[in-house]
Amino acid sequence: MAEKCLAMKDGKKFPENFIWGTATSSYQIEGAFDVDGKGLSVWDTHSHTMGKIKNQDNGDRACNHYFLWKEDFKLLKDLGVNAYRFSTSWTRIFPRGTETKPNMLGLDFYSRIVDSLLENDISPFLTINHWDIPQGIEDLGGWPNRNVIDHYLHYAYWLSKHLGDRVKNWITHNEPWCISYKGYIEGEFPPGIKNNWTKSIATTHHLLLSHGMAIPEIKSNSLSANVGITLNLTPGIPASSSEYDIDECAKFDGVFNRMYLDPLYKKSYPQDIFDWLLKDNLIKKSDLEIIFDNDLKTISTETDFLGVNYYSRAIVRNKKVPKEKNLPVEIKTGNKTDFGWEIHPDSFYKLLIRIKNDYSLKKIYITENGCSYKIGPDKNKIINDNKRIEYHNTHLLSLKKAIDSGVPCEGYFAWSLLDNFEWCEGFGQRFGLVWVDFDSLERIPKNSFFWYRDLILRNGG
Ligand code: GCO
Repeated sequence: MAEKCLAMKDGKKFPENFIWGTATSSYQIEGAFDVDGKGLSVWDTHSHTMGKIKNQDNGDRACNHYFLWKEDFKLLKDLGVNAYRFSTSWTRIFPRGTETKPNMLGLDFYSRIVDSLLENDISPFLTINHWDIPQGIEDLGGWPNRNVIDHYLHYAYWLSKHLGDRVKNWITHNEPWCISYKGYIEGEFPPGIKNNWTKSIATTHHLLLSHGMAIPEIKSNSLSANVGITLNLTPGIPASSSEYDIDECAKFDGVFNRMYLDPLYKKSYPQDIFDWLLKDNLIKKSDLEIIFDNDLKTISTETDFLGVNYYSRAIVRNKKVPKEKNLPVEIKTGNKTDFGWEIHPDSFYKLLIRIKNDYSLKKIYITENGCSYKIGPDKNKIINDNKRIEYHNTHLLSLKKAIDSGVPCEGYFAWSLLDNFEWCEGFGQRFGLVWVDFDSLERIPKNSFFWYRDLILRNGG
């Protein structure tokens, strides 16, 4: 049985006081998209646009968590987690994003949630921006426009002023790469723009800058706060040992990982990436003038922790070079989840060691790790998702090995508590420890739920 593997060779458990949590995000679970004064976010607009989301799904109702949160928190309690990561919906609090005063109905919803978590001895980890920027702000130019930072700070100020007496763990942004790359290069995410490196770089910069600027703001409202940012880090490996693939992989790493880690921890952007974009005329020199003196100093304001989301590695091939000119692919792809993402726990270990060695990190949390499998209930309502257990188990083994090698990781959040709205995939990909029937809204804990509950009880050992 896979579970046994977690007994470490020296019988050691995870460190004392290790945080065991699970994570969700507002748009993916809440529903109630127009209730109690909530305005429209870019994700509402995107998912209401024909052809953007598989099956034309949207988050209008999702898991209906806005109305069923008490039931969901009972599940959290049964799971035995000591922390819960969730995000607040910006447009519940500032419906257009530009108002001076917050919508109190929105703030009060989160206030009730926080109180309930604390009553159950579960520490709230609050993500301020999990991508659902108000449409009203998007209409002003969105993240590529530096003025948007003021609206974000205003939102962060009111959130922390209202909840900061009780919430101590704050995550400024979730996965800025997704906003900047999927929104402005791939065009899959809102605002759906393709191959616009000028806007993509400006988005990255303004997200990071707003992170740095929000830290003192949050700390002044939430005394002894623990503030960080969450990055999705994906290690790349060249598909072959050809120089084409090696170069391509360096670019991949620059755009995906170093573009965020370097400014946050080394006060600089990766020059090789800017050189390449300039050389290939993908940006002009003047596009970089959005980076003002002192911005990097602000971005690198000391954070208390880095949140790391890890799902898979990338095998990187230079697709512009004809096959006959390149070497054959040498890297074998391992098993994949139902999403088609390769399962590669060893890359998780290597990534953690690399960030420990290359960046001076005081503390990290794994703010997301998980997998999509579609397996549903049998006739007895049992959900035998052994593959998910195996995924978490092998990744936790890698994490334990990394901790034993000195990686300062103090917590792990399984993505996700519930099956939910998986962005452009709609409800087709299921990451939950709990099955959700999207017609009846019934919740059924999967076998992985019980496995995780027992593991938490043993502190992993
Ligand atoms: C993300 C998000 C989650 C996703 C998860 C699976 O990081 O992409 O934080 O919202 O659902 O990663 O794709």
